[in-house]
Amino acid sequence: MTAMPKQRVAVLISGRGSNMASLIAAAKDDQYPAEIALVVSNRPDAAGLDHARGQLITTAVVDHMRYGKDREAFERALQDVLAGHRIDIVCLAGFMRLLTPWFVNQWQGRMLNIHPALLPAFKGLHTHERALAAGVKTHGATVHFVSPEMDSGPIIAQAEVPVLAGDTPETLAARVLEAEHRIYPQALRQVSERIAKRA
Ligand code: GRF
Repeated sequence: MTAMPKQRVAVLISGRGSNMASLIAAAKDDQYPAEIALVVSNRPDAAGLDHARGQLITTAVVDHMRYGKDREAFERALQDVLAGHRIDIVCLAGFMRLLTPWFVNQWQGRMLNIHPALLPAFKGLHTHERALAAGVKTHGATVHFVSPEMDSGPIIAQAEVPVLAGDTPETLAARVLEAEHRIYPQALRQVSERIAKRA
């Protein structure tokens, strides 16, 4: 049997890149249906870029500061980089830019995001602080398709994480992050296999 061609994935980051690292690690498996073909950061100083380079992954920087308030110009530059690397799937991993409907619609069903909460609960920022303030007993992480409305696209995978007595935003974040690193590679596998079958 001929192996299915691997989906070419770009991971978009702005900072630390630990979710990116979990995707890179998973994609090292010959049987994994996707390869991390590119890591793109909108910040030249993102720590994740060093990790990616160390793993011999192609990296690119599309610095949003160069485009001022012109979001679409930034996104056109980003789109050119993705097209230049023949990217099939985009994974947002701590990518801290809001994307316009123009960009999102081009990647419908092919752009994933990881969010540190059990969506639809706690959309937006500071999810761990807000979960603790709300007194929830269960928190978690969600991988979802990106839709024009923030943190609202169809859910692909979720993991529940218990909130423990004495948790601080930091201890809770660390427990949720472990779950993120587990479910993001699983979700990307699932989406890649589905797309490969359609092709
Ligand atoms: C993660 O918690 C992710 O869910 C959120 O931002 C954080 C990024 O962390 N969107 P990292 O850069 O992947 O380490």
